[in-house]
Amino acid sequence: MPDDAITVPSKVLPYRDPSLSVDERVDDLIGRMTLPEKVGQMLQLDGRGDLTDIVHTKLAGSILHTSPERMLEAIALAEQTRLGIPLLTADDCIHGHSFWPGATIFPTQLGMACSWDPDLVEQAARVTAVEVSATGVHWTFSPVLCITRDLRWGRVGETFGEDPHLIGELGAAMVRGYQGDGLTDPTAVLACAKHFAGYSETQGGRDASEADLSRRKLTSWFLPPFERAVQEGCRTVMLGYQAIDGVPVTANGWLLDEVLKGEWGFTGTLVTDWDNVGRMVWEQKVCADDVEAATVAVRAGNDLVMTTPAFFEAAQQAVTGGLLDERLVDEAARRVLRLKLELGLFENPRPPDVDRQRLVIGSDEHAALNLELARRSLVLLTNDGILPYAAGARGNGSPRTVAVIGPNADDPQANLGDWAGASGQVDWMPDGHPREAVETVLDGFRAVVPATWTVTHARGAEIETLGNDPEGPLFPDGQPRPPISVSAPVDPAQLAEAVATARAADLAVVVLGDTISLTGEGCSTATLDLQGGQSALLDALVDTGTPVVVVLLHSKPNVLPPSALRAAALIEAFSPGMRGGRAVAELVLGHIEPAGRLPVSIPRHVGQQPTYYNQVRGQHGHRYADLTQEPQFVFGEGLTYTSVEWSQLSLDTTELSPDGVVAAAVTLTNTGDRTAYEVVQAYVTDVVTSVTWATKELKAFRRVTVPPGESVRARLELPAAACSIVDATGRRVVEAGEFELRVGPSSRDADLLRSTFRITA
Ligand code: NOJ
Repeated sequence: MPDDAITVPSKVLPYRDPSLSVDERVDDLIGRMTLPEKVGQMLQLDGRGDLTDIVHTKLAGSILHTSPERMLEAIALAEQTRLGIPLLTADDCIHGHSFWPGATIFPTQLGMACSWDPDLVEQAARVTAVEVSATGVHWTFSPVLCITRDLRWGRVGETFGEDPHLIGELGAAMVRGYQGDGLTDPTAVLACAKHFAGYSETQGGRDASEADLSRRKLTSWFLPPFERAVQEGCRTVMLGYQAIDGVPVTANGWLLDEVLKGEWGFTGTLVTDWDNVGRMVWEQKVCADDVEAATVAVRAGNDLVMTTPAFFEAAQQAVTGGLLDERLVDEAARRVLRLKLELGLFENPRPPDVDRQRLVIGSDEHAALNLELARRSLVLLTNDGILPYAAGARGNGSPRTVAVIGPNADDPQANLGDWAGASGQVDWMPDGHPREAVETVLDGFRAVVPATWTVTHARGAEIETLGNDPEGPLFPDGQPRPPISVSAPVDPAQLAEAVATARAADLAVVVLGDTISLTGEGCSTATLDLQGGQSALLDALVDTGTPVVVVLLHSKPNVLPPSALRAAALIEAFSPGMRGGRAVAELVLGHIEPAGRLPVSIPRHVGQQPTYYNQVRGQHGHRYADLTQEPQFVFGEGLTYTSVEWSQLSLDTTELSPDGVVAAAVTLTNTGDRTAYEVVQAYVTDVVTSVTWATKELKAFRRVTVPPGESVRARLELPAAACSIVDATGRRVVEAGEFELRVGPSSRDADLLRSTFRITA
């Protein structure tokens, strides 16, 4: 047993001797392993299956989705194997410990991204790591570094939005938070940058469709966030499902070897996505059988093969049949073993620690951080002056009635979003997180309004009914198909009740959005409209004459009906996490200031897709014959409860060498009477480029607090090296010449002050 081994060092085998280097230990261990043992180390299997078969027959080196009850059993089974190689345990702890009842569930990545606050995002990842590491899980499949493109894609809510720079900075923050003080830190978990790369470039939003990407396009926009994460020391990378230009990422030697391991010097471990290797046979049909698929995958440099049990026999056959060089299996197994040794799992397999769980999971301190992140992530999109509601003198202290209406007003899962509790990925939390752990918007108002006020509630509409998938109960790989979402009809009685509730109130807060069935993997949507009776509900409520504040709780942007734009105010909350409902109530009542900014454009019409702001110049005109191309709300947008004037953009120097630093300052003057939480956004335009390029790109940002009546001079710096493009040969270069720096509170040109500078050859 490992512990005896430590206490009697003279008798330990070299691979068990912690005084030896990782390389020495890996060399010793590999030399002792049989081919099945080495192939087994490359397997990551579904921990919901037969654990004895997984660990003792398939000799799997890693498991995922293991329920809290079974984790100890899995770890013990690994200890009983011939060499006692510890298991590497993984799960999707995406915005908190998703599937641990009562763990702290933060806003989704898209929600967090609205904070534009890497420090807070890092703290959230740290809290997640502290909670996860107490439960026997070593590795989280997070962060997602895909860039949002077509909003019909079901996984938009898992991203940090549409901008590579913002994604890179927030992703790097998460990597720091997860990996803590390094892998020997007992509260660290491995981070995983996913899905490498280009997975979000869907066709029509269809999940995992072939990505129509040139290498140049990948290099320009899709790869930079991953490179940033690798620079930050992210130890693992997960491959996307999709093929690019005919080649599944699982087989893409250029991406894996030349770019990731070669150019970027990544020395960590790769994991495929779910059954990527099998999919090359049964789905993409680029391999005739599992033996060929195993050969292709190992040759391309994959290390861990997620949930393709057939890989165990297939890879061995490929080696014994002379198709696959065993040394390639050795190299992959080495990278897995190295990770285990770096984590110190041979000395301590990091089993669940019940005492630590009691102390940290869902602790008050973590809940406080969660509330703070939710507060900073709410985006105020419109406000006719109704908000902050009845604040200060305007309130006159008179009691009010607030009607909290809508299908997402009191739905805990709408707060949590995907990858949490009952979101469908695991079977041990059918009822989701404990109800008392989640504050819905209704809960939030009940908790936050003055004691003399009344809070009423009506559901008002249904979003959907659930039906059976006409294609049958199972996917071709045997996984269950989720039920399909059918838009619900308007229920006149339900609608009438909501109208009456709104009429009897001083303020109606209407909480609308989507559902889990309209979100996530395999759940892309054809439309972006609000489903079911929601638009009819909103139309009717806005017509009551009671002021209406619309709150959007959804995985991704919806196209809003005209009545949403006629409402008194509109708040974008996405999936704001366990404490999101309270944060919404605090914002409406003016206990906090609006602080969030959109990390993604919100379109006017689904047909405008894609609407990302950094489009390449050169098209004819700027509108469709029947509609503007301008989104409804632009990237970077978000209001405050005050007014801020931006002036005096200046540059320290206007002529720079390519290794110089663009240093700028801008003045923000708060002309109102409430504090402004602003985000200073700096975009760069390369005036003339050798090949077509984006109109402008975000290159730096920082949060600034401006007290009422005061001016703040905010400084920003960005390396001239960041003012790059990818040229016709696919190289990232800084081209000498004229550039524009555009600074302001959103990506909208009218909001940006401009100054020019030159980069010399
Ligand atoms: C498939 C998803 O694409 C990926 O994001 C996730 O990490 C794995 N399944 C494991 O659950």
